[in-house]
Amino acid sequence: MEIVILDSPKEVDEFVASQIVDLVKTKERPVVGFATGSTPVGAYNLMIEQYHLGKVDFSNLIAFNLDEYVGVKLDHPRSFATFMRTRLFDQINVKKENIYALDGSKQDLTQVCNEYEKLIENNQIDIQILGVGMNGHIGYNEPGSDLDGKTHVVDLQEKSITSSLNYGFTKIEEVPTKGITMGIGTIMKAKKLLMIAKGKDKKDIVKAMLEEPISSKIPSTIIRQHDNVIVILDKEAAGK
Ligand code: PGA
Repeated sequence: MEIVILDSPKEVDEFVASQIVDLVKTKERPVVGFATGSTPVGAYNLMIEQYHLGKVDFSNLIAFNLDEYVGVKLDHPRSFATFMRTRLFDQINVKKENIYALDGSKQDLTQVCNEYEKLIENNQIDIQILGVGMNGHIGYNEPGSDLDGKTHVVDLQEKSITSSLNYGFTKIEEVPTKGITMGIGTIMKAKKLLMIAKGKDKKDIVKAMLEEPISSKIPSTIIRQHDNVIVILDKEAAGK
């Protein structure tokens, strides 16, 4: 595990964006797993900037979304699919047919999960971007999740539901109580993981992720078992 501590959130964004841009420039069929949330947005903005400057071409990019709400249509304003579309995909030249998202509005979610697993099996993810939730989740793999799990439906825990108020929901009652997510086993199959954390609110969970025993109590501890993981922190998130 490599840990990179940078002075500012901006430098974290630059580090992450350059990892993705370098991959896209050098690989014929780059496959990236994208995370929603406030943490990676700065890096996405820099990717957009590089695209507009003509420095990178995303036409061969294959994109997978990490997770989604259950019961929310892909084009719903608060869906993670919409988040990724508006914050990144609509602003670069990734092809629509190369963007894969979990559709939590479908009737048969088991089928949705199985199909996603197959797709990822056939398109091994080169870089998976990850943030860590305040309860230690990665994707929507909440505490107690199977450390070897595949894509599945989860009951969201209180901290995750509350955090969704940062993502445009105005009332707690509006936030879906279930999610659909790549499993921890699915995530660990990516060739490389980029775990990003910024800000002082994350310092306790970052310490726990890096120092507590690896267990499903803090799902993000599992990343330490990956043989190609970079943890990128700003000074505040690294505060402990
Ligand atoms: P955040 O979410 O980037 O908004 O802090 C991270 C997460 O819950 O995985």
